[in-house]
Amino acid sequence: METRVLSAILVIYLALIALLNVSVVAEEGDKVLTLDHSNFSEVVSKHDFIVVEFYAPWCGHCKALAPEYEKAALVLSSHDPPISLAKVDANEEANRGLATEFQIQGFPTIKIIRNGGKNIQEYKGPREADGIVDYLKKQAGPASAEIKSTEDAGSLINEKNIFVVGVFPKFSGEEFENFTALAEKLRSDYNFGHTLDAELLPRGESVQKPTLRLLKPFDELFIDFQDFQVAAMEKFIEEASIPVVTIFDNDPSNHPYVNKFFDSPNAKAMLFVNFSKELDSFQSTYKDVAKQSKAKGISFLLGDLEASEGAFQKPDGQKFLKANIEPSQIAPWLKDYLDGLVKPFIRSEPVPEVNDEPVKVVVTDSLQDMVFNSGKNVLLEFYAPWCGHCKQLAPILDEVAISFANDPDIIIAKTGKIQFPSVS
Ligand SMILES: *[C@@H]1O[C@H](CO)[C@@H](O)[C@H](O)[C@H]1NC(C)=O
Ligand SMILES: *[C@@H]1O[C@H](CO)[C@@H](O)[C@H](O)[C@H]1NC(C)=O
Ligand SMILES: *[C@@H]1O[C@H](CO)[C@@H](O)[C@H](O)[C@H]1NC(C)=O
Repeated sequence: METRVLSAILVIYLALIALLNVSVVAEEGDKVLTLDHSNFSEVVSKHDFIVVEFYAPWCGHCKALAPEYEKAALVLSSHDPPISLAKVDANEEANRGLATEFQIQGFPTIKIIRNGGKNIQEYKGPREADGIVDYLKKQAGPASAEIKSTEDAGSLINEKNIFVVGVFPKFSGEEFENFTALAEKLRSDYNFGHTLDAELLPRGESVQKPTLRLLKPFDELFIDFQDFQVAAMEKFIEEASIPVVTIFDNDPSNHPYVNKFFDSPNAKAMLFVNFSKELDSFQSTYKDVAKQSKAKGISFLLGDLEASEGAFQKPDGQKFLKANIEPSQIAPWLKDYLDGLVKPFIRSEPVPEVNDEPVKVVVTDSLQDMVFNSGKNVLLEFYAPWCGHCKQLAPILDEVAISFANDPDIIIAKTGKIQFPSVS
């Protein structure tokens, strides 16, 4: 049932964007090109590389991005060759066709468009000027950088990120071409390099034939693959870049993995312990269990109680919970779960006494009354406080709620937090 509500959210959300028509004059920048339906194709077709921001004048995050984007455009205009940054007001009626064509589902959305429009990728870089500049310089250069020395390797590969290297006896042939195609395709998600000598790499270990090596800051630290079909390599990278156990704490470099964890269709096991005192006693046992259960379609997360207090609020169908767990109980409990012997967990926050913000709060106990039996059209957002996309949506949701405040048939709501019981 919750899945049904969730898919309804997306549909209603898009429809609402179409209804809103607040006109605010966009600030004119100097270096950022303004494009619209009349000249978009013509301008894009003249560029090997152009970056386009789709925005809406009422969107708070777009306003926050604007000066940074402008600064980046200024710096990048003197790059050799110059890198052009453009923007499209996707809220403008006449530009809706472009927004549809580029599958714009939220604001701001930034696309990197190559080869005069033939190749389109999502911008996945930072949102402040220096970060935008660095990310785009890299995106405008070759998809894969040649590694000729240990210095090259040192400057490209760092301790925190995943890096994919192709090791070849020569830079030609079908394997190399496939690798290059792969790097082009995934360049906005991963960093790529190629080399003739695997011993130049930080976790150097030579190889005898063309090899795709994925270096990662966790688990095996590197992993090799030798099937050079593009789809096979893509699948390998996707799987090898997910840790056996995803760590959730305050370290931002772990957050991309947390997002991947939640994006996965697998069942999700989450263990919360107090990292400052119990991490060591749990980590290795949990990791062993996770390795053994990999094939069973379960993903594993280990969260710091302190960092994740109240954070895990997801529209999962069912939740199973074991409080006061000991390391030795992890595997048996998981087995019970797989055997269908564990009952789902339901716990509600108290129904809030005051609920007079434009966006109403719905908790488990008020879900029936406020949503299913209300006789109203309800837009309900399931969210987690740490989730970037949710933060991005929050001001939009507020604006939507304000504009529907006087409509008795519509409720805009979000779920409350669920407090996890202490496990210490
Ligand atoms: C595209 O057309 C719009 C509206 O006519 C204009 O404001 C804008 O400057 C044009 N952009 C370019 C790059 O020519
Ligand atoms: C290169 O990729 C194509 C398409 O995926 C595939 O058919 C071909 O077998 C690959 N070549 C090698 C050497 O793996
Ligand atoms: C975690 O352990 C530390 C040190 O023993 C303690 O100070 C802290 O209150 C604990 N946190 C939680 C959420 O239990």
